[in-house]
Amino acid sequence: YAQTKKWKIGFSQVTTIEPWRAQFNKDIIAEAAKHPEVELIITDGEDKTEKQVADVENLIRQEVDALLVSPKESAGLTGVVQQAIDAKIPVFVLDRNVDTKDYTQFVGGDNKLIGRAAGEYAVELLGGKGKAAGNVVEIWGGMGTQPAHDRHDGFHEFTDKEPGIKYLLDQQSGDWKQDQAYNLMANALKTNEKIDLVYGHNDPMAYGAYLAAKDVGREKDIKFIGIDGLPNEGVQMVNKGELTATFTYVTPGAEGLRQAIKFLNGEKVEKTITLPTEKITKENAAKVLKDNGL
Ligand code: FRU
Repeated sequence: YAQTKKWKIGFSQVTTIEPWRAQFNKDIIAEAAKHPEVELIITDGEDKTEKQVADVENLIRQEVDALLVSPKESAGLTGVVQQAIDAKIPVFVLDRNVDTKDYTQFVGGDNKLIGRAAGEYAVELLGGKGKAAGNVVEIWGGMGTQPAHDRHDGFHEFTDKEPGIKYLLDQQSGDWKQDQAYNLMANALKTNEKIDLVYGHNDPMAYGAYLAAKDVGREKDIKFIGIDGLPNEGVQMVNKGELTATFTYVTPGAEGLRQAIKFLNGEKVEKTITLPTEKITKENAAKVLKDNGL
């Protein structure tokens, strides 16, 4: 039946175990279902660069009409993305970038903007502009990824202006994982009597830090900020009062596939598509849940 399909589109996903990745795949599969002319092949990089590189090589060999890729990290995936480009396959880079601009399009959120929004809110939570004070734990996402760096830089544009804010961990990465963040936070709690705010580069890590604090009875003293804002995950955590805030990070699954199809049909596409974000706090969490039928 594959022969009746007009376009073969490959999507190299970095992993499927994280909640945001699972949602991402759901979104792209749902979009593909609206396009009977498209055969969508999804591969799972199992969170390993070598596996994801092999996946992309495989998709190139299968002569896909377009390649969508959401990289584990920039450096390790750049070579194989370049190979696809050299093979004249239009490449759509999703969420995390690579170190070349020769691709057809990038689709993703504005992580600098999200970082700034998180930093501005952290300053407000710690006493307000010019008066903010407190000890902050920042838990980085994967060090080799642009989102982690942008989320860091944006945040610090606001918090670094506050002399009262002190940072407790120096560039510690939880690699986007709840359990790794739990361990980092458990250690930080042991060595620091006072922690006022945790900034996790995603919700699973903010939640891991929350659980570590809860296990030693200190979760009420600390504000937790995360990013992703999936309705059935981060938004629920905010609604329950576990996280103080999250910032939505729409998956590029649906938009990425729509753009690729548009391009294959001969239409022009923009170099970059930026997906929107929304701040979720106790004030709007319940409404967002309701709007999502939860
Ligand atoms: C999932 C994830 C998300 C995060 C994104 C950043 O793998 O860690 O939680 O927002 O990747 O690239």
